[in-house]
Amino acid sequence: MLIAPSLLSCDFSKFGEEISRMDKAGADYMHLDVMDGHFVPNITFGAPVIKYVRSFTDKPFDVHLMISEPLRYIDDFCDAGADIITFHIESDSDPIETIEKIKSRGVKAGLVIKPKTDVETVFPYLDKLDMVLVMTVEPGFGGQSFMADMLPKVEALRAEIDRRGLEVLIEADGGISDKNIRLCADAGVNVAVAGTAVFRAENPAEAIANLKK
Ligand code: DX5
Ligand code: ZN
Repeated sequence: MLIAPSLLSCDFSKFGEEISRMDKAGADYMHLDVMDGHFVPNITFGAPVIKYVRSFTDKPFDVHLMISEPLRYIDDFCDAGADIITFHIESDSDPIETIEKIKSRGVKAGLVIKPKTDVETVFPYLDKLDMVLVMTVEPGFGGQSFMADMLPKVEALRAEIDRRGLEVLIEADGGISDKNIRLCADAGVNVAVAGTAVFRAENPAEAIANLKK
């Protein structure tokens, strides 16, 4: 299991140092939540901020776009140093066009599904994707409760990926802690996002090690 701390829960007055701190604590990816106040009812940061903090780690930047028109901004996030870009199937951009745009820049592409979206909606795109992100909370805010009823979607996705012999990673995001990460692993999750569980911990390195275990 790879652990991707969500920087949404960090101290933004020292964003760069927080990324270094997560790097040293053993994070596998840096999960960066971009929100536009339109696709979700919250606003965070955009590509210029990501560009500023890119130099604080060599670990992959996993950029989760919660924005209405991801296609319009793909070049900006690639230029800013994203390694993986995930965008919502519920957004206004054409999935194929957006996936192809991301991949044309040598960046890994992923689709995200909100809790109310059926997992089958991503099946037509699976052979073009590097990752599928299954939301285990409604996107928009950190610190919400894990929705265990999303796990059957992960299981269905795992079965379909394996049936087709694909290498697509499954990421889960929202409310993940040491209380439920085993359920995620058993269902077939490869990458667990954790905001509160890592940033609220007294010792983030221990928290990350514990989640991995
Ligand atoms: C929610 C974000 C998540 C969130 C995770 O919209 O996509 O990445 O910040 O934070 P926790 O682990 O606190 O739910
Ligand atoms: Zn996220």
